[in-house]
Amino acid sequence: MNHQETRQSLLAEYPQLTIVEHPLLESKLALLRRPEVQGGEFRRLMSDISRLLLWEIMRSFPTREIEVPTLLGTAVGHELAAPLVLVPVLRAGLGMLDGMLSLVDHAQVGHIGLFRDEETLTPVGYYSRLPEFAPEARVLVLDPMLATGHTCVEAIYQVKKQGARHVIHANVVSCPQGIAEVAKHHPDVPIFTGVVDAKLNDKGYIVPGLGDAGDRLFATD
Ligand code: URA
Repeated sequence: MNHQETRQSLLAEYPQLTIVEHPLLESKLALLRRPEVQGGEFRRLMSDISRLLLWEIMRSFPTREIEVPTLLGTAVGHELAAPLVLVPVLRAGLGMLDGMLSLVDHAQVGHIGLFRDEETLTPVGYYSRLPEFAPEARVLVLDPMLATGHTCVEAIYQVKKQGARHVIHANVVSCPQGIAEVAKHHPDVPIFTGVVDAKLNDKGYIVPGLGDAGDRLFATD
């Protein structure tokens, strides 16, 4: 199957999946992939991509009509009708946070700390600080790399356990295995991704992917 056929078959198999297609996102992603892009430039590009993902994610968010006084009368406007909570999974998820907050500075932020045991590739929790979720709150779990899916699945369980009813997952790069894993455990959770790459390698890294996104964001490689 070529890339386009793989894409179509994933979209048919997983109705919860949205692959955000936009020339601006695609061109920034191509820059982000380059091995020489590190630190500040990497963070800026990931922020830009995250803003573009949020734009698409919020397309279906509920709004209510309001009257807005203007200099020359009254206009009909809209305001967001549900609280928004952003939950970056530490540490790479932090790379998606600032870009999104620059569009929605009213959002609450929760944090979940999970690292991957490099032997078993299973997530190990080391931190959790989540707000109380209103029943109508939209809760975005942020992790730029949807690889095995184990970390994301666990993070979604944690926010659901805390009362989140409308959970959405956003990532920058995903792969079929990660999508399948999230869909298996959380078929109710929409997944928004910038691109679906071909596969995982034996260390659980997405290929071609970005390498270790946390290391590249924070120059710890
Ligand atoms: N985490 C990363 O940072 N990169 C991958 O490819 C997979 C998991």
